[in-house]
Amino acid sequence: MNTPILRQLDFDKDLAAVAALFVSEMDEAESVESLRKFLEEHGDRNLGVHVAVDEKDNLVGFNWLFRDKEIPERAQAYLVVQPECRKQGVGRLLLADLENAACQAGILDVRSTVPDKNPEYLRFAKDHACEVLKHVIGMELNPALLDLEPFKNLVQALEAQGFHFTSMLALGDTPGARENLFRLNDTASSQTMGSDGEHSWTDFEDFNQSVCESDWYKPAGQLVVIERQTGRWVAMSAITRFEGSDYAYNLFTGVDENYRGRGLARAVKALALEYARDNLGVTRVRTHHLEANLPMIAVDRHLGYEVIPGYYTVRKVLPGMPGG
Ligand SMILES: CC(C)(COP(=O)(O)OP(=O)(O)OC[C@H]1O[C@@H](n2cnc3c(N)ncnc32)[C@H](O)[C@@H]1OP(=O)(O)O)[C@@H](O)C(=O)NCCC(=O)NCCS
Repeated sequence: MNTPILRQLDFDKDLAAVAALFVSEMDEAESVESLRKFLEEHGDRNLGVHVAVDEKDNLVGFNWLFRDKEIPERAQAYLVVQPECRKQGVGRLLLADLENAACQAGILDVRSTVPDKNPEYLRFAKDHACEVLKHVIGMELNPALLDLEPFKNLVQALEAQGFHFTSMLALGDTPGARENLFRLNDTASSQTMGSDGEHSWTDFEDFNQSVCESDWYKPAGQLVVIERQTGRWVAMSAITRFEGSDYAYNLFTGVDENYRGRGLARAVKALALEYARDNLGVTRVRTHHLEANLPMIAVDRHLGYEVIPGYYTVRKVLPGMPGG
């Protein structure tokens, strides 16, 4: 192959090949529609999608850079080369182009996701001065093989202790219920073991829009536990099936820090799995956890999940524009 040509993404011509690489190389359930929608909705943060093409205009790789929603000098990047076109300098070319775009946009900190299924991916990142920030493992379970009986007994025992197991659907998915869900989800996720305590949403409005108003939000798949006596929302487990995906995905499980270690996570997540098995038409449920999040991994092992490939989050610090 001759040196590839870099050009801007052409939606109609390139998006299908880019989506296919997201699925095959990044294990991300993207489709032409989801990428188009993302680009349309977040166009203000998009700092460029460039494709590398061969002499026949076939896509051999792409890079993608978009600004962080809260930290303007930070960006998220993707860089993927078709497997049959590797070791010919395409990755280096796309990386140099990406760094150039980042510098032009005043980005000083680029973060990227590197699948751990192939050690060469991380080697490439490290060879190009990226440092590893975290390692996330994948976990998978066939819900049809799950024996729910012991977990149903656990739910009953917890109900007898004064905990009410319910769902956003059963609660009417009201604005008030959404606010309670937000508070529990946001607080517990910021306490994830091994995380740096970051919050996923700026405020309730942000949560309401990016979660409750999204097309993947299923009120019946948002299982919650409320303490009857105090009305406190103490546990939740959220599950969905993304469009175009043949597996269900556990989005988040969290328990109020004052109520941990009583089996609430295991119980509420078992109900989420029952919902997925009976309503989402899947034979696989997937999730991801920080390698350091031992309690959550323990819960999932207890439920029967097995480890599958995950990914690293890497960071490259850029020098900035001279005089910038
Ligand atoms: C992870 C979390 C949901 C667990 O909630 P919980 O109600 O305490 O969970 P349970 O009582 O059902 O089970 C806790 C399990 O963790 C184990 N555990 C607790 N601390 C542990 C540790 N430091 N190392 C290893 N295992 C640990 C317990 O032994 C138990 O294992 P078991 O299921 O085999 O008995 C809770 O800690 C939490 O909300 N963390 C913050 C949010 C988060 O990390 N969510 C996961 C991201 S998706």
